[in-house]
Parts: sequence; structure tokens; C-alpha cells
Amino acid sequence: MPAPASDPARILVVFGTRPEAIKLFPVVAALQADPRFDARVCVSAQHRGMLDQVLDIAGIVPDFDLDVMKPDQSLDALTAALLTGLGRVMDEVQPARVVVQGDTATAMTGALAAYYRKIPVDHVEAGLRSGNIYHPWPEEINRKIIGTMASLHFAPTETSAAALKAENVDPARIHVTGNTVIDALHWVTRRIAEQPSLAGGLADLEARFAGKRIIGVTSHRRENFGGGLEAIAEAVRRIAARDDVALIFPVHPNPNVRRVMDGALAGLANVAMIEPLDYPHFARLLSLAEIMLTDSGGVQEEAPALGKPVLVMRETTERPEGIAAGTARLVGTDSTRIVTEIFTLLDDKPAYEAMARAHNPFGDGHSARRIVELLGNEI
Ligand code: UD1
Ligand code: UDP
Repeated sequence: MPAPASDPARILVVFGTRPEAIKLFPVVAALQADPRFDARVCVSAQHRGMLDQVLDIAGIVPDFDLDVMKPDQSLDALTAALLTGLGRVMDEVQPARVVVQGDTATAMTGALAAYYRKIPVDHVEAGLRSGNIYHPWPEEINRKIIGTMASLHFAPTETSAAALKAENVDPARIHVTGNTVIDALHWVTRRIAEQPSLAGGLADLEARFAGKRIIGVTSHRRENFGGGLEAIAEAVRRIAARDDVALIFPVHPNPNVRRVMDGALAGLANVAMIEPLDYPHFARLLSLAEIMLTDSGGVQEEAPALGKPVLVMRETTERPEGIAAGTARLVGTDSTRIVTEIFTLLDDKPAYEAMARAHNPFGDGHSARRIVELLGNEI
């Protein structure tokens, strides 16, 4: 690592939700370990509890915390609060560059506030595109907005790099780095190996469901609110009618999700609806599960890396790499389709084995280091 020639460059890393925190803590750690940078962290706290779970395990103490989360916040109110709050922090910090990740409201407004101040903004997990502005909603547009302003585009794969080139982004500004989620997953796996108690909190459930085949479930997408979530709940009910399975479902705290799941699934003997798990415990669930059933973005990346078949409850995905690798399959939100696909994986061994192969289309676990090297070329 070269010695700093002058004052370290002040970089403001902005994030606010659980997945951003998981995917940026490796970058924050790499920046903080490099004397060329003076890394400052601003969390919007668009998520509160789920964000704090990641900050705790990663040992990050933010320099700024906007604490914007309100119950069931609308996109309008959230966007307005984020833009003004993040702008104020940028005025105070005067960073040389701003780093955002992914496609949340925090990432989009963080990029916009930086652009308004003509501060270069660098985008981690750039170039994901589904081609449909309502799936995922509003993330597809958030990513595109960030892509029009970003200085450096850190694309996780060649596919995402190609999507940016197709939008006429300067190829010299696009770098294929892998996805930092794999860095995070490797890190947490090492931590659990050193200290198994970090993921020991599922022991009671593991005992309760001993001998059953575990299916991990997550669901939170806005475009599935209403009918989509009801159909997902109905599918879980029908899967749970089998004696040989148990479903472990950490339920997203969004009230739109809770209402539906509490109404449809409470009291089922082999469905455990639990609070969101911290990252080590979620990694434990990934290793216990025979199948993951999810509409999450991050889980679509982690499951293939671990060789876990993942059924994706969406009509389309901006992460086609898992599908191409054969570990992920789009199943939509029709309950009969979901049940049929799960039963096929449970009952047809060759079909299961065809999906259960570890692939690493999303990275090798060294993405954060590459990103920090590339940032170093800009200062
Ligand atoms: C947000 C992101 C989405 C991302 C997801 C990851 C936007 C518009 N959406 O969706 O892209 O995939 O996070 O999970 O940026 N809540 C809590 N505690 C928490 C977190 C949320 O109670 O720790 C509840 C609050 O009532 C909050 C609601 O969930 O108002 C919705 O949170 P919000 O961040 O607006 O949307 P998500 O659906 O979580
Ligand atoms: N995750 C977690 N605890 C949970 C559920 C998920 O730590 O109870 C992690 C998961 O490993 C992944 C990320 O949260 O890294 C995905 O977040 P989410 O599904 O909320 O958002 P998305 O990826 O869809 O934007």
C-alpha cells in the first residue's frame, strides 16, 4: 500500500438499509485500513433495527446518523427527508468523493445530493437492470438515476458492465469488481467458524425442527404488496401442510408484510415466523436450509455462492447470473407455481442436485479491495 503523499482524501460512505450495510461494511473496513483515505460514514437509518444489527456485527460507528425511519414511511416523505438530510451532512463534511451502493432511496438521494454539490459519486453494485421500471419498484429507476450521475461504476459482473455500456456509459469508468456481498459472506463465515456462538441463537428452532427439511423464506418487495404477498403466504401454508418440512421465515418489519403474514400464517406448527436475523444467524439459516424461497436481491447472490437452490418469487430479475448458473429459478408469485416448484425440489433428487451446485457468479470475496484500489486512482 503506497504511503500517503498528502492529506488523506475524505470519502463519505452513505447507506441506510440492511442490504446496503451488509454490502458496504467490507468497503468501509478497507477504506479505514488505507492511510490514503479519511473515510467518514453517514447512515440515513432508513432502516433502524435491521441497520443497527449490521453496524453491531461489523463494528461500525457512524459519524452521522440521520435517523429518518418512520413507521410505514411513504416514498415521497422518505425521499424528501433523505435528500435534505444527506445534503446537510455533505455541506458539513465537504468530502472529495461520495460512495453509495445499490438501489435504495438512500443510495439515489445520496447520489443526487452529491451531484447537486458537484461532488463525484461512486456507485457500488452498478449496472443491474431488469429492463422493467416496475419490477423491482422503485429500485430499477433508482439504479438508473444513480448510473446517470456516477463517476465510477463498480459493476459486480460482466453482465452488469454490459448493461452500462449499452446505456452509453464511458467504458473507462466501468470496472468489474465482483459483488461485495461475497466479501461480507466470507467474512461472516470466518467469524462464525472462530466463534460459533455468534450464530447459536437458532439452536431451539433447530431442535424443534430436527429431522425436518428446512426451507428458508424471506419476502419484502414493494411490488408484491397486497395480492403478491397474499399469494406467497398461501404458498407457505400449502407447503407447510407437509409433515417432512419446516419453514423458517424471518419476517421483514415493514407493516405491509407483517399484516399479511401474521394474518395468514400464525399458529402453524411447522412455520417459524421470527424477527429479522442478524447476519451471522441469517448465514446459519442459509447453511441449514435445503431450499431458499425469497424475493430478496441479496439472497439471490448469497444462495448460489453456497450451492443452495433459490426460488425467486419475482416475475423478472436484475440478477440473471444466478439463473444462468442454474442455482436460482424465477417462480413468480402464483401460489400454485411456487408450491409445485418447491415440491419438485423436495421430491425429485436429480432436479434438486441439478440446482444445488456452488457457483460464484457474483464475485470472489475480494471486491472491496478492488474498489478501494480504483478509488485510490482518483485521489
Ligand atoms: C427498503 C428499500 C429496498 C430494499 C429493502 C431491503 C427503498 C425505497 N426500499 O425497502 O430497496 O430492498 O429496504 O430490506 O429504498 N421497518 C422497521 N424496522 C427496520 C426497517 C424497516 O420497522 O429496521 C419498517 C418501517 O415501518 C418502515 C418500513 O419498514 O417505514 C419500510 O421501510 P423502507 O426502508 O421504506 O422500505 P423497505 O420495504 O424496507
Ligand atoms: N438478511 C439478514 N437477516 C434476515 C434476512 C436477510 O441478515 O433476517 C440479509 C441477507 O443475508 C442479505 C440481505 O439481508 O444479505 C438482504 O436484504 P433484503 O432482503 O432486506 O434486501 P434486498 O437484498 O432485497 O435489497
